[in-house]
Amino acid sequence: MQTGGEAAPGQRRNLYGRRHGKKLKPSQRRMLDTLLPQLGIPGVSPDENPGRAPLGPLFPDRRPLWLEVGFGAGEHLVHQAAAHPEVGFLGCEPFVNGVAMALVRIDAAGLANVRLHPGDARDLIELLPDGALARVFLLYPDPWPKARHHRRRFASPENLAELHRAMAPGAELRLATDIADYARHALEAVAAAPGFSVASVEDAPWPGWPGTRYEAKALAAGRRPQYLTFRRD
Ligand SMILES: C[S@@+](CC[C@H](N)C(=O)[O-])C[C@H]1O[C@@H](n2cnc3c(N)ncnc32)[C@H](O)[C@@H]1O
Repeated sequence: MQTGGEAAPGQRRNLYGRRHGKKLKPSQRRMLDTLLPQLGIPGVSPDENPGRAPLGPLFPDRRPLWLEVGFGAGEHLVHQAAAHPEVGFLGCEPFVNGVAMALVRIDAAGLANVRLHPGDARDLIELLPDGALARVFLLYPDPWPKARHHRRRFASPENLAELHRAMAPGAELRLATDIADYARHALEAVAAAPGFSVASVEDAPWPGWPGTRYEAKALAAGRRPQYLTFRRD
Protein backbone atom coordinates (compact mmCIF):
# COMPACT_ATOMS: atom_id res chain seq x y z
CA MET A 1 0.00 0.00 0.00
CA GLN A 2 1.40 3.39 -0.75
CA THR A 3 0.72 6.77 -2.01
CA GLY A 4 0.93 8.51 -5.31
CA GLY A 5 -0.75 11.12 -7.41
CA GLU A 6 -1.24 14.51 -5.88
CA ALA A 7 -4.72 15.71 -5.14
CA ALA A 8 -6.29 18.89 -3.93
CA PRO A 9 -7.55 18.73 -0.33
CA GLY A 10 -10.76 16.73 -0.19
CA GLN A 11 -10.09 14.82 -3.40
CA ARG A 12 -9.59 11.09 -3.33
CA ARG A 13 -5.92 10.19 -3.66
CA ASN A 14 -4.42 7.13 -5.26
CA LEU A 15 -3.46 4.58 -2.65
CA TYR A 16 -1.49 1.62 -3.94
CA GLY A 17 -1.20 -1.73 -2.22
CA ARG A 18 -3.64 -3.97 -0.49
CA ARG A 19 -6.49 -2.98 1.78
CA HIS A 20 -7.70 -6.48 2.63
CA GLY A 21 -5.89 -9.72 3.44
CA LYS A 22 -7.13 -13.08 4.60
CA LYS A 23 -10.47 -13.59 6.30
CA LEU A 24 -10.66 -11.88 9.67
CA LYS A 25 -11.00 -13.89 12.88
CA PRO A 26 -14.29 -13.34 14.76
CA SER A 27 -12.42 -11.49 17.54
CA GLN A 28 -10.89 -9.14 14.97
CA ARG A 29 -14.27 -8.56 13.27
CA ARG A 30 -15.75 -7.77 16.66
CA MET A 31 -13.08 -5.17 17.36
CA LEU A 32 -13.69 -3.51 13.99
CA ASP A 33 -17.42 -3.38 14.75
CA THR A 34 -17.21 -2.23 18.36
CA LEU A 35 -13.87 -0.58 19.19
CA LEU A 36 -13.08 1.15 15.90
CA PRO A 37 -16.24 3.31 16.07
CA GLN A 38 -15.02 4.54 19.48
CA LEU A 39 -11.42 5.21 18.43
CA GLY A 40 -11.96 6.27 14.82
CA ILE A 41 -11.74 9.95 13.90
CA PRO A 42 -14.94 11.10 12.18
CA GLY A 43 -14.59 13.33 9.15
CA VAL A 44 -11.13 12.31 7.94
CA SER A 45 -11.91 10.50 4.72
CA PRO A 46 -12.71 12.74 1.74
CA ASP A 47 -15.82 10.66 0.99
CA GLU A 48 -17.25 11.51 4.36
CA ASN A 49 -15.98 15.10 4.48
CA PRO A 50 -15.53 16.42 0.93
CA GLY A 51 -15.49 20.05 2.10
CA ARG A 52 -12.65 19.24 4.55
CA ALA A 53 -14.37 20.77 7.56
CA PRO A 54 -11.95 20.95 10.50
CA LEU A 55 -11.85 17.98 12.87
CA GLY A 56 -13.38 18.11 16.32
CA PRO A 57 -11.10 17.74 19.36
CA LEU A 58 -9.14 14.48 19.22
CA PHE A 59 -8.67 14.27 23.00
CA PRO A 60 -10.46 15.98 25.86
CA ASP A 61 -7.29 17.89 26.84
CA ARG A 62 -4.46 19.66 25.00
CA ARG A 63 -1.92 16.84 25.18
CA PRO A 64 1.05 16.43 22.80
CA LEU A 65 0.11 14.46 19.68
CA TRP A 66 2.27 11.74 18.11
CA LEU A 67 1.42 10.18 14.76
CA GLU A 68 2.37 6.81 13.27
CA VAL A 69 1.93 6.51 9.51
CA GLY A 70 1.30 2.90 8.42
CA PHE A 71 1.24 1.20 11.83
CA GLY A 72 0.87 -2.30 10.32
CA ALA A 73 -0.33 -4.64 13.07
CA GLY A 74 0.18 -1.97 15.73
CA GLU A 75 3.05 -3.42 17.81
CA HIS A 76 4.95 -0.15 17.91
CA LEU A 77 1.85 2.02 18.29
CA VAL A 78 0.62 0.02 21.30
CA HIS A 79 4.05 -0.03 22.89
CA GLN A 80 4.48 3.75 22.57
CA ALA A 81 0.94 4.60 23.64
CA ALA A 82 1.31 2.40 26.74
CA ALA A 83 4.74 3.82 27.58
CA HIS A 84 3.53 7.43 27.11
CA PRO A 85 0.03 7.77 28.58
CA GLU A 86 0.49 11.55 28.62
CA VAL A 87 0.64 11.60 24.80
CA GLY A 88 -2.28 11.36 22.37
CA PHE A 89 -1.30 8.73 19.84
CA LEU A 90 -2.74 8.94 16.31
CA GLY A 91 -2.36 5.98 13.98
CA CYS A 92 -3.18 5.61 10.30
CA GLU A 93 -3.30 2.32 8.41
CA PRO A 94 -5.37 1.44 5.34
CA PHE A 95 -4.83 -2.37 5.57
CA VAL A 96 -7.95 -3.61 7.36
CA ASN A 97 -6.32 -6.77 8.73
CA GLY A 98 -3.58 -4.63 10.31
CA VAL A 99 -6.18 -2.31 11.85
CA ALA A 100 -8.05 -5.33 13.26
CA MET A 101 -4.84 -6.78 14.76
CA ALA A 102 -3.96 -3.41 16.28
CA LEU A 103 -7.45 -3.04 17.78
CA VAL A 104 -7.12 -6.42 19.50
CA ARG A 105 -3.81 -5.24 21.00
CA ILE A 106 -5.22 -1.82 22.01
CA ASP A 107 -8.17 -3.52 23.71
CA ALA A 108 -5.93 -6.00 25.55
CA ALA A 109 -3.70 -3.17 26.77
CA GLY A 110 -6.73 -1.08 27.82
CA LEU A 111 -5.34 2.05 26.15
CA ALA A 112 -7.30 5.29 26.40
CA ASN A 113 -4.89 7.55 24.50
CA VAL A 114 -5.17 6.25 20.93
CA ARG A 115 -7.23 7.48 17.96
CA LEU A 116 -7.12 5.72 14.61
CA HIS A 117 -7.78 6.53 11.00
CA PRO A 118 -8.20 3.29 9.05
CA GLY A 119 -7.04 4.86 5.81
CA ASP A 120 -4.54 7.14 4.10
CA ALA A 121 -2.43 9.18 6.54
CA ARG A 122 -2.41 12.12 4.11
CA ASP A 123 -6.14 12.57 4.64
CA LEU A 124 -5.60 13.02 8.37
CA ILE A 125 -2.42 15.10 8.17
CA GLU A 126 -4.00 17.71 5.91
CA LEU A 127 -6.76 18.28 8.49
CA LEU A 128 -4.46 18.74 11.46
CA PRO A 129 -3.86 22.30 12.64
CA ASP A 130 -0.46 23.88 11.99
CA GLY A 131 2.16 22.66 14.45
CA ALA A 132 -0.15 20.02 15.97
CA LEU A 133 2.27 17.07 15.90
CA ALA A 134 5.06 16.68 18.42
CA ARG A 135 6.44 13.47 16.88
CA VAL A 136 5.89 11.42 13.73
CA PHE A 137 6.86 7.80 13.03
CA LEU A 138 7.24 6.37 9.53
CA LEU A 139 8.40 2.82 10.17
CA TYR A 140 9.30 0.59 7.28
CA PRO A 141 7.30 2.48 4.67
CA ASP A 142 6.58 0.46 1.54
CA PRO A 143 9.86 0.55 -0.40
CA TRP A 144 8.54 0.68 -3.98
CA PRO A 145 11.92 -0.48 -5.36
CA LYS A 146 11.26 0.05 -9.08
CA ALA A 147 12.38 3.47 -10.30
CA ARG A 148 9.05 4.11 -11.98
CA HIS A 149 7.32 3.60 -8.62
CA HIS A 150 9.57 5.86 -6.55
CA ARG A 151 6.99 8.63 -6.69
CA ARG A 152 4.71 6.40 -4.59
CA ARG A 153 7.14 6.51 -1.67
CA PHE A 154 5.72 8.26 1.37
CA ALA A 155 8.88 10.31 1.95
CA SER A 156 8.00 12.57 -0.98
CA PRO A 157 8.48 16.34 -1.26
CA GLU A 158 4.70 16.87 -1.08
CA ASN A 159 4.25 14.76 2.06
CA LEU A 160 7.29 16.32 3.74
CA ALA A 161 5.91 19.79 3.06
CA GLU A 162 2.56 18.85 4.56
CA LEU A 163 4.23 17.18 7.54
CA HIS A 164 6.34 20.27 8.04
CA ARG A 165 3.19 22.36 8.30
CA ALA A 166 1.53 19.94 10.74
CA MET A 167 4.60 19.43 12.94
CA ALA A 168 5.63 21.70 15.78
CA PRO A 169 9.05 23.41 15.70
CA GLY A 170 11.58 20.94 17.15
CA ALA A 171 9.32 17.91 16.53
CA GLU A 172 11.00 14.69 15.39
CA LEU A 173 10.24 12.58 12.35
CA ARG A 174 11.54 9.05 12.94
CA LEU A 175 11.96 6.84 9.91
CA ALA A 176 13.11 3.20 9.91
CA THR A 177 13.90 1.33 6.73
CA ASP A 178 15.71 -1.85 5.74
CA ILE A 179 16.15 -0.64 2.16
CA ALA A 180 19.37 1.32 1.66
CA ASP A 181 17.95 3.03 -1.41
CA TYR A 182 14.94 4.24 0.60
CA ALA A 183 17.25 5.70 3.26
CA ARG A 184 19.19 7.52 0.53
CA HIS A 185 15.97 8.70 -1.09
CA ALA A 186 14.63 9.99 2.26
CA LEU A 187 17.87 11.81 3.04
CA GLU A 188 17.78 13.48 -0.37
CA ALA A 189 14.11 14.37 -0.02
CA VAL A 190 14.71 15.88 3.41
CA ALA A 191 17.79 17.77 2.21
CA ALA A 192 15.62 19.30 -0.51
CA ALA A 193 12.68 19.98 1.82
CA PRO A 194 12.79 23.35 3.52
CA GLY A 195 12.57 23.31 7.29
CA PHE A 196 13.93 19.89 8.23
CA SER A 197 17.38 18.87 9.36
CA VAL A 198 18.97 15.47 9.83
CA ALA A 199 19.46 14.78 13.54
CA SER A 200 20.93 11.27 13.22
CA VAL A 201 21.37 8.23 11.00
CA GLU A 202 22.00 5.08 13.02
CA ASP A 203 22.22 1.36 12.55
CA ALA A 204 20.83 0.80 16.05
CA PRO A 205 17.25 1.70 16.96
CA TRP A 206 16.00 4.37 19.32
CA PRO A 207 16.08 3.58 23.07
CA GLY A 208 13.18 1.40 24.22
CA TRP A 209 12.48 0.28 20.66
CA PRO A 210 9.94 -2.57 20.59
CA GLY A 211 10.57 -3.66 16.99
CA THR A 212 7.85 -4.16 14.41
CA ARG A 213 6.46 -7.12 12.55
CA TYR A 214 7.98 -5.98 9.27
CA GLU A 215 11.34 -5.36 10.91
CA ALA A 216 11.41 -8.94 12.26
CA LYS A 217 10.95 -10.23 8.71
CA ALA A 218 13.66 -7.92 7.38
CA LEU A 219 16.13 -9.06 10.04
CA ALA A 220 15.27 -12.73 9.42
CA ALA A 221 16.00 -12.16 5.73
CA GLY A 222 19.41 -10.72 6.64
CA ARG A 223 18.64 -7.09 5.80
CA ARG A 224 20.11 -4.35 8.00
CA PRO A 225 17.75 -1.59 9.05
CA GLN A 226 18.70 2.05 9.36
CA TYR A 227 17.07 4.46 11.79
CA LEU A 228 16.85 8.06 10.63
CA THR A 229 15.81 10.97 12.83
CA PHE A 230 14.84 14.27 11.23
CA ARG A 231 14.03 17.42 13.13
CA ARG A 232 11.52 20.02 12.02
CA ASP A 233 13.32 23.33 12.41
C1 LIG B 1 5.93 -2.38 4.91
S1 LIG B 1 4.51 -2.07 5.87
C2 LIG B 1 5.18 -1.74 7.48
C3 LIG B 1 4.15 -1.85 8.56
C4 LIG B 1 4.65 -1.53 9.98
N1 LIG B 1 5.09 -0.16 10.09
C5 LIG B 1 5.76 -2.47 10.38
O1 LIG B 1 6.92 -2.01 10.46
O2 LIG B 1 5.48 -3.67 10.61
C6 LIG B 1 4.02 -0.46 5.33
C7 LIG B 1 2.62 -0.08 5.82
O3 LIG B 1 2.31 1.25 5.43
C8 LIG B 1 0.94 1.31 5.13
N2 LIG B 1 0.71 2.50 4.28
C9 LIG B 1 1.06 2.67 3.01
N3 LIG B 1 0.70 3.86 2.55
C10 LIG B 1 0.09 4.49 3.56
C11 LIG B 1 -0.53 5.76 3.71
N4 LIG B 1 -0.60 6.63 2.70
N5 LIG B 1 -1.06 6.07 4.91
C12 LIG B 1 -0.99 5.20 5.95
N6 LIG B 1 -0.42 3.98 5.86
C13 LIG B 1 0.10 3.63 4.68
C14 LIG B 1 0.67 -0.02 4.44
O4 LIG B 1 -0.69 -0.38 4.43
C15 LIG B 1 1.53 -0.97 5.25
O5 LIG B 1 0.81 -1.56 6.31
